[in-house]
Amino acid sequence: MTQIATEDPKLPMVVAPAIPALGSGQMFDKIAARYDTLNRVLSLGLDQRWRRRVVRALGLDTNSRKTKQGQWYGERPRVLDVATGTGDLAIEIARSCPGSTVVGLDPSAGMLAVAQHKLDKRGLAERISLVVGDAQALPQANCEVDAATIAFGIRNVPDRGQALRELARVVRPGGRVCVLELNEPRNKGLFAAAARLHTHHIVPRVGAWLSGAREYRYLQSSVAAFPAPADFADLMRASGLEVLEVTPLTFGVCTLYLATPAEDA
Ligand SMILES: C[S@@+](CC[C@H](N)C(=O)[O-])C[C@H]1O[C@@H](n2cnc3c(N)ncnc32)[C@H](O)[C@@H]1O
Repeated sequence: MTQIATEDPKLPMVVAPAIPALGSGQMFDKIAARYDTLNRVLSLGLDQRWRRRVVRALGLDTNSRKTKQGQWYGERPRVLDVATGTGDLAIEIARSCPGSTVVGLDPSAGMLAVAQHKLDKRGLAERISLVVGDAQALPQANCEVDAATIAFGIRNVPDRGQALRELARVVRPGGRVCVLELNEPRNKGLFAAAARLHTHHIVPRVGAWLSGAREYRYLQSSVAAFPAPADFADLMRASGLEVLEVTPLTFGVCTLYLATPAEDA
Protein backbone atom coordinates (compact mmCIF):
# COMPACT_ATOMS: atom_id res chain seq x y z
CA MET A 1 0.00 0.00 0.00
CA THR A 2 1.11 3.57 -0.68
CA GLN A 3 0.30 6.41 1.71
CA ILE A 4 -0.58 9.74 0.13
CA ALA A 5 -0.62 12.94 2.23
CA THR A 6 -3.90 14.86 2.03
CA GLU A 7 -3.99 18.66 1.65
CA ASP A 8 -5.35 19.15 5.19
CA PRO A 9 -2.69 17.96 7.71
CA LYS A 10 -5.48 17.17 10.23
CA LEU A 11 -6.95 14.56 7.88
CA PRO A 12 -5.54 11.03 7.91
CA MET A 13 -3.26 9.89 5.12
CA VAL A 14 -5.13 8.33 2.21
CA VAL A 15 -4.16 4.73 1.73
CA ALA A 16 -4.00 3.86 -1.93
CA PRO A 17 -3.33 0.44 -3.41
CA ALA A 18 0.26 0.17 -4.72
CA ILE A 19 -0.93 -1.84 -7.69
CA PRO A 20 -3.12 0.26 -9.99
CA ALA A 21 -6.53 -1.27 -10.73
CA LEU A 22 -6.52 -2.94 -14.12
CA GLY A 23 -7.88 -0.65 -16.82
CA SER A 24 -7.81 2.40 -14.55
CA GLY A 25 -6.21 5.73 -15.37
CA GLN A 26 -3.26 4.83 -13.09
CA MET A 27 -2.61 1.69 -15.09
CA PHE A 28 -2.58 3.74 -18.30
CA ASP A 29 -0.16 6.25 -16.73
CA LYS A 30 2.41 3.47 -16.73
CA ILE A 31 2.16 2.76 -20.46
CA ALA A 32 1.41 6.29 -21.72
CA ALA A 33 4.84 6.97 -23.23
CA ARG A 34 4.75 3.91 -25.50
CA TYR A 35 0.98 3.72 -26.05
CA ASP A 36 0.84 5.21 -29.56
CA THR A 37 3.68 3.11 -30.96
CA LEU A 38 2.25 -0.05 -29.45
CA ASN A 39 -1.20 0.78 -30.77
CA ARG A 40 0.07 1.09 -34.34
CA VAL A 41 2.17 -2.06 -34.13
CA LEU A 42 -0.37 -4.26 -32.37
CA SER A 43 -3.34 -3.17 -34.50
CA LEU A 44 -1.18 -3.49 -37.64
CA GLY A 45 -1.97 0.15 -38.40
CA LEU A 46 -5.74 -0.41 -38.40
CA ASP A 47 -6.48 1.71 -35.32
CA GLN A 48 -6.26 5.00 -37.19
CA ARG A 49 -8.48 3.69 -39.98
CA TRP A 50 -11.10 2.67 -37.40
CA ARG A 51 -10.96 6.14 -35.80
CA ARG A 52 -11.59 7.71 -39.21
CA ARG A 53 -14.69 5.52 -39.49
CA VAL A 54 -15.94 6.98 -36.20
CA VAL A 55 -15.49 10.50 -37.52
CA ARG A 56 -17.43 9.66 -40.69
CA ALA A 57 -20.21 8.05 -38.62
CA LEU A 58 -20.62 11.23 -36.57
CA GLY A 59 -21.65 13.05 -39.77
CA LEU A 60 -20.03 16.33 -38.72
CA ASP A 61 -19.86 19.26 -41.13
CA THR A 62 -16.48 18.77 -42.79
CA ASN A 63 -16.96 21.90 -44.95
CA SER A 64 -17.10 24.34 -42.07
CA ARG A 65 -14.47 27.02 -42.68
CA LYS A 66 -13.37 30.40 -41.44
CA THR A 67 -13.69 33.08 -44.11
CA LYS A 68 -10.90 35.54 -44.87
CA GLN A 69 -12.93 38.08 -42.91
CA GLY A 70 -12.61 35.86 -39.87
CA GLN A 71 -16.24 34.69 -39.85
CA TRP A 72 -17.37 31.10 -39.79
CA TYR A 73 -19.64 29.44 -42.26
CA GLY A 74 -20.90 25.92 -41.71
CA GLU A 75 -21.60 24.25 -38.40
CA ARG A 76 -19.35 24.49 -35.35
CA PRO A 77 -20.10 21.29 -33.43
CA ARG A 78 -18.98 20.70 -29.86
CA VAL A 79 -17.69 17.16 -29.44
CA LEU A 80 -16.74 15.26 -26.30
CA ASP A 81 -14.19 12.44 -26.61
CA VAL A 82 -14.36 10.32 -23.46
CA ALA A 83 -11.35 8.13 -22.52
CA THR A 84 -9.40 10.26 -24.99
CA GLY A 85 -6.04 8.83 -23.86
CA THR A 86 -3.29 10.25 -26.05
CA GLY A 87 -5.89 12.16 -28.08
CA ASP A 88 -5.80 10.40 -31.44
CA LEU A 89 -9.57 10.42 -31.95
CA ALA A 90 -9.93 14.00 -30.70
CA ILE A 91 -7.24 15.04 -33.20
CA GLU A 92 -8.94 13.17 -36.04
CA ILE A 93 -12.27 14.88 -35.24
CA ALA A 94 -10.70 18.35 -35.08
CA ARG A 95 -8.81 17.79 -38.33
CA SER A 96 -11.80 16.47 -40.28
CA CYS A 97 -14.19 19.10 -39.04
CA PRO A 98 -12.37 22.45 -38.97
CA GLY A 99 -15.28 24.19 -37.25
CA SER A 100 -15.44 21.80 -34.31
CA THR A 101 -14.23 22.25 -30.78
CA VAL A 102 -13.40 19.09 -28.87
CA VAL A 103 -13.06 18.25 -25.19
CA GLY A 104 -10.93 15.18 -24.47
CA LEU A 105 -11.59 13.61 -21.06
CA ASP A 106 -9.56 10.88 -19.34
CA PRO A 107 -8.59 9.94 -15.77
CA SER A 108 -4.93 9.31 -16.72
CA ALA A 109 -2.78 12.41 -16.34
CA GLY A 110 0.06 10.53 -18.05
CA MET A 111 -2.00 9.83 -21.20
CA LEU A 112 -3.27 13.43 -21.23
CA ALA A 113 0.30 14.76 -20.99
CA VAL A 114 1.19 12.85 -24.17
CA ALA A 115 -2.01 14.18 -25.80
CA GLN A 116 -1.19 17.77 -24.82
CA HIS A 117 2.27 17.47 -26.37
CA LYS A 118 0.69 16.27 -29.65
CA LEU A 119 -1.86 19.12 -29.65
CA ASP A 120 0.87 21.71 -29.10
CA LYS A 121 2.96 20.25 -31.92
CA ARG A 122 0.00 20.23 -34.32
CA GLY A 123 -1.31 23.68 -33.40
CA LEU A 124 -4.61 22.22 -32.14
CA ALA A 125 -4.40 23.29 -28.51
CA GLU A 126 -6.94 26.08 -29.00
CA ARG A 127 -9.57 23.76 -30.41
CA ILE A 128 -9.05 20.69 -28.25
CA SER A 129 -9.08 21.05 -24.48
CA LEU A 130 -8.14 18.20 -22.17
CA VAL A 131 -9.70 17.49 -18.78
CA VAL A 132 -9.06 14.87 -16.13
CA GLY A 133 -12.31 13.02 -15.49
CA ASP A 134 -14.26 9.78 -15.29
CA ALA A 135 -16.75 8.48 -17.85
CA GLN A 136 -19.10 7.54 -15.01
CA ALA A 137 -19.51 11.15 -13.80
CA LEU A 138 -19.02 13.55 -16.70
CA PRO A 139 -18.59 17.23 -15.79
CA GLN A 140 -20.69 18.41 -18.78
CA ALA A 141 -24.21 19.77 -18.33
CA ASN A 142 -27.25 18.02 -19.82
CA CYS A 143 -27.36 18.29 -23.66
CA GLU A 144 -24.11 20.31 -23.66
CA VAL A 145 -22.48 18.66 -26.69
CA ASP A 146 -23.53 17.77 -30.23
CA ALA A 147 -21.69 14.46 -30.28
CA ALA A 148 -19.72 12.21 -27.96
CA THR A 149 -17.27 9.40 -28.65
CA ILE A 150 -15.45 6.73 -26.69
CA ALA A 151 -12.85 4.63 -28.49
CA PHE A 152 -11.30 1.55 -26.87
CA GLY A 153 -12.31 3.03 -23.54
CA ILE A 154 -15.70 1.61 -22.48
CA ARG A 155 -14.02 -1.76 -21.83
CA ASN A 156 -12.07 -0.18 -18.96
CA VAL A 157 -15.00 1.50 -17.22
CA PRO A 158 -16.23 -0.43 -14.14
CA ASP A 159 -19.90 0.57 -14.55
CA ARG A 160 -20.46 0.64 -18.31
CA GLY A 161 -24.21 1.26 -18.01
CA GLN A 162 -23.52 4.39 -15.94
CA ALA A 163 -21.00 5.66 -18.52
CA LEU A 164 -23.52 5.10 -21.33
CA ARG A 165 -26.23 6.93 -19.35
CA GLU A 166 -23.81 9.81 -18.93
CA LEU A 167 -23.15 9.90 -22.69
CA ALA A 168 -26.92 9.93 -23.33
CA ARG A 169 -27.33 12.76 -20.82
CA VAL A 170 -24.67 15.14 -22.16
CA VAL A 171 -25.48 14.80 -25.88
CA ARG A 172 -28.26 17.04 -27.21
CA PRO A 173 -31.41 15.45 -28.66
CA GLY A 174 -30.65 14.22 -32.19
CA GLY A 175 -26.90 14.33 -31.55
CA ARG A 176 -24.68 11.29 -31.96
CA VAL A 177 -22.91 8.93 -29.61
CA CYS A 178 -20.27 6.67 -31.11
CA VAL A 179 -18.59 3.82 -29.28
CA LEU A 180 -15.66 1.95 -30.83
CA GLU A 181 -14.52 -1.22 -29.12
CA LEU A 182 -12.46 -4.33 -29.81
CA ASN A 183 -14.01 -7.78 -29.84
CA GLU A 184 -12.75 -11.25 -29.89
CA PRO A 185 -14.21 -12.68 -33.11
CA ARG A 186 -16.30 -15.65 -31.95
CA ASN A 187 -17.19 -17.07 -35.35
CA LYS A 188 -15.47 -19.99 -37.02
CA GLY A 189 -13.12 -19.47 -39.94
CA LEU A 190 -9.49 -18.86 -40.58
CA PHE A 191 -9.50 -15.11 -40.05
CA ALA A 192 -11.32 -15.33 -36.72
CA ALA A 193 -8.85 -18.00 -35.55
CA ALA A 194 -5.93 -15.80 -36.61
CA ALA A 195 -7.47 -12.83 -34.78
CA ARG A 196 -7.87 -14.91 -31.60
CA LEU A 197 -4.25 -16.03 -31.85
CA HIS A 198 -3.21 -12.39 -32.28
CA THR A 199 -5.22 -11.23 -29.24
CA HIS A 200 -4.32 -14.12 -26.93
CA HIS A 201 -0.67 -14.69 -27.75
CA ILE A 202 0.84 -11.91 -29.85
CA VAL A 203 -0.65 -8.80 -28.19
CA PRO A 204 0.32 -9.67 -24.59
CA ARG A 205 3.81 -10.88 -25.53
CA VAL A 206 4.75 -8.15 -28.02
CA GLY A 207 3.07 -5.53 -25.78
CA ALA A 208 4.99 -6.64 -22.70
CA TRP A 209 8.22 -6.90 -24.68
CA LEU A 210 7.98 -3.48 -26.37
CA SER A 211 6.61 -1.61 -23.37
CA GLY A 212 8.43 -3.45 -20.63
CA ALA A 213 5.09 -3.41 -18.80
CA ARG A 214 2.98 -6.39 -17.76
CA GLU A 215 -0.14 -4.26 -18.29
CA TYR A 216 -0.49 -5.46 -21.88
CA ARG A 217 -1.59 -8.84 -20.56
CA TYR A 218 -4.66 -7.09 -19.22
CA LEU A 219 -5.62 -5.99 -22.74
CA GLN A 220 -6.01 -9.54 -23.94
CA SER A 221 -8.24 -10.59 -21.04
CA SER A 222 -10.35 -7.43 -21.20
CA VAL A 223 -11.05 -7.89 -24.92
CA ALA A 224 -12.02 -11.52 -24.36
CA ALA A 225 -14.31 -10.52 -21.47
CA PHE A 226 -16.13 -7.74 -23.36
CA PRO A 227 -19.75 -8.61 -24.28
CA ALA A 228 -20.66 -9.69 -27.81
CA PRO A 229 -21.87 -6.79 -30.01
CA ALA A 230 -25.56 -7.71 -29.75
CA ASP A 231 -25.35 -7.80 -25.93
CA PHE A 232 -23.47 -4.52 -25.75
CA ALA A 233 -26.06 -2.91 -28.06
CA ASP A 234 -28.75 -4.12 -25.62
CA LEU A 235 -26.88 -2.44 -22.77
CA MET A 236 -26.81 0.78 -24.80
CA ARG A 237 -30.59 0.56 -25.29
CA ALA A 238 -31.12 -0.08 -21.59
CA SER A 239 -28.98 2.98 -20.82
CA GLY A 240 -31.07 5.59 -22.64
CA LEU A 241 -29.67 5.33 -26.15
CA GLU A 242 -31.38 4.51 -29.42
CA VAL A 243 -28.95 2.34 -31.36
CA LEU A 244 -28.77 3.40 -35.02
CA GLU A 245 -26.04 1.08 -36.31
CA VAL A 246 -23.81 -1.74 -35.13
CA THR A 247 -21.04 -2.16 -37.70
CA PRO A 248 -18.39 -4.87 -37.49
CA LEU A 249 -15.02 -3.64 -38.77
CA THR A 250 -12.18 -5.80 -40.13
CA PHE A 251 -14.01 -9.15 -39.88
CA GLY A 252 -15.44 -8.27 -36.47
CA VAL A 253 -12.17 -7.54 -34.67
CA CYS A 254 -13.59 -4.15 -33.82
CA THR A 255 -17.20 -2.87 -33.65
CA LEU A 256 -18.58 0.60 -34.21
CA TYR A 257 -21.80 1.39 -32.34
CA LEU A 258 -23.66 4.51 -33.46
CA ALA A 259 -26.50 5.84 -31.31
CA THR A 260 -28.52 8.90 -30.37
CA PRO A 261 -30.16 9.80 -27.04
CA ALA A 262 -33.52 8.00 -26.86
CA GLU A 263 -36.46 10.39 -26.98
CA ASP A 264 -38.28 8.74 -24.08
CA ALA A 265 -35.23 8.45 -21.81
C1 LIG B 1 -6.99 1.87 -24.62
S1 LIG B 1 -6.99 3.56 -24.10
C2 LIG B 1 -7.88 4.36 -25.41
C3 LIG B 1 -7.43 5.76 -25.67
C4 LIG B 1 -7.99 6.46 -26.90
N1 LIG B 1 -9.42 6.63 -26.85
C5 LIG B 1 -7.59 5.81 -28.18
O1 LIG B 1 -8.39 5.78 -29.11
O2 LIG B 1 -6.44 5.37 -28.30
C6 LIG B 1 -8.19 3.50 -22.80
C7 LIG B 1 -8.31 4.80 -22.03
O3 LIG B 1 -9.41 4.66 -21.11
C8 LIG B 1 -9.10 5.46 -19.99
N2 LIG B 1 -9.99 5.11 -18.85
C9 LIG B 1 -9.83 4.14 -17.90
N3 LIG B 1 -10.83 4.19 -17.01
C10 LIG B 1 -11.65 5.21 -17.40
C11 LIG B 1 -12.84 5.78 -16.86
N4 LIG B 1 -13.42 5.29 -15.75
N5 LIG B 1 -13.40 6.85 -17.50
C12 LIG B 1 -12.83 7.35 -18.62
N6 LIG B 1 -11.71 6.84 -19.18
C13 LIG B 1 -11.12 5.79 -18.58
C14 LIG B 1 -7.63 5.17 -19.75
O4 LIG B 1 -7.01 6.12 -18.91
C15 LIG B 1 -7.10 5.15 -21.17
O5 LIG B 1 -6.56 6.40 -21.56
